Amino acid sequence: MRDITLGILGAGYWGPNLIRSFAETPGCEVRYVCDLRPELLAKISKRFHQVKVSTRFDDLLNDPEVDAIVIATPAATHAELAMRALSAGKHVLVEKPLAHEVEAGEKLVRFAETQKRILMVGHTFEYNPAVRKLHDIIRDPSFGDIVYLYSRRVNLGVLRQDVNALWNLAPHDVSIILYLFEEYPQYVSAQGLAHIRKGVEDVAFMYLEFPSGRIASVHVSWLDPSKDRTMTVIGSRRMVIYDDVDPEARLKIYDRGFEIESVMSGLDHADPSSYTYRVRPGDIIAPYIDWKEPLMIECRHFVEVIRNGGVPLTDGHNGLRVVRILAAATASMRQNGRRIEIPSLVKT
Ligand SMILES: NC(=O)c1ccc[n+]([C@@H]2O[C@H](COP(=O)([O-])OP(=O)(O)OC[C@H]3O[C@@H](n4cnc5c(N)ncnc54)[C@H](O)[C@@H]3O)[C@@H](O)[C@H]2O)c1
Repeated sequence: MRDITLGILGAGYWGPNLIRSFAETPGCEVRYVCDLRPELLAKISKRFHQVKVSTRFDDLLNDPEVDAIVIATPAATHAELAMRALSAGKHVLVEKPLAHEVEAGEKLVRFAETQKRILMVGHTFEYNPAVRKLHDIIRDPSFGDIVYLYSRRVNLGVLRQDVNALWNLAPHDVSIILYLFEEYPQYVSAQGLAHIRKGVEDVAFMYLEFPSGRIASVHVSWLDPSKDRTMTVIGSRRMVIYDDVDPEARLKIYDRGFEIESVMSGLDHADPSSYTYRVRPGDIIAPYIDWKEPLMIECRHFVEVIRNGGVPLTDGHNGLRVVRILAAATASMRQNGRRIEIPSLVKT
């Protein structure tokens, strides 16, 4: 059986991680890397001797042996480049976000289906063993009901100009939240601030409300003194903190909460004067995580789905759900944080 042959577009910050991961993925060959900047291609040639480099996307598209295109270019270019790849009959793995506008994302999803090509989005965190473990922890009855979640993805830099901090950073948080909650939000409100570059928000606060009554809050910024990648989930019985930059203890489960204590003999749930709430102290547990690099898992998954058929975990519909939420959050931001109803999911 011949290897799945790939062309990778974009050799900036993230592209080389994809090139390395696919180069190490069994059953696949990275045949081309394309970037508009020859000096980046020269570096790729030095590091990956067997890979052909080109500044012309058409070289990749016109090679009939190229099965799939991987797109790691700036977010604003994703939709157009992915459409060109699908039109040439290639499978596509596009970095997050799938597109920068809902309509462009919908077109891509529909087109991939008519072309019978795989469209997968690089929502890497859904392949992250810590996020998967977090899912299992909060779905376990011992966690109680999931009440709310808040997430911080902040540090100093990298300053983008094609998209704001919301579109650059929050795709990760939104994809994780949809995966954890298994639920689609009904309302969003968001506010942002463009301090460094005019018109491009460096910081954004987004607030999501779900039909179950759960809420999730997301703070993203590239204007912050220190790097913070934490997500806290509060359950009715336990709480958990996921810290992506703490390899020693990415997850910490707090067996703590509140419990009812009677203030007189005979606790009567119908009579609030008969009881009070007291903090229930308890252990902090850092569970073992069978760690594997998320990007490697994602790359293997893409190759397997091309080879064996099936639907990728982070398919075009998955990517489109994230785009819809970010688009509604952007509309809210443009209206000073007005609470906006997120269009319900319709089949694209
Ligand atoms: N999944 C993740 O964890 C993760 C992490 C970082 C970045 N990303 C995503 O990866 C993508 C790239 O981000 P980055 O930080 O590497 O950006 P970058 O600006 O460092 O690199 C992008 C590269 O694309 C090239 N490029 C632009 N248009 C092109 C075209 N038409 N043809 C060929 N090359 C073209 C540029 O010359 C540049 O070298 C973004 O979509 C970003 O959201 C994902």
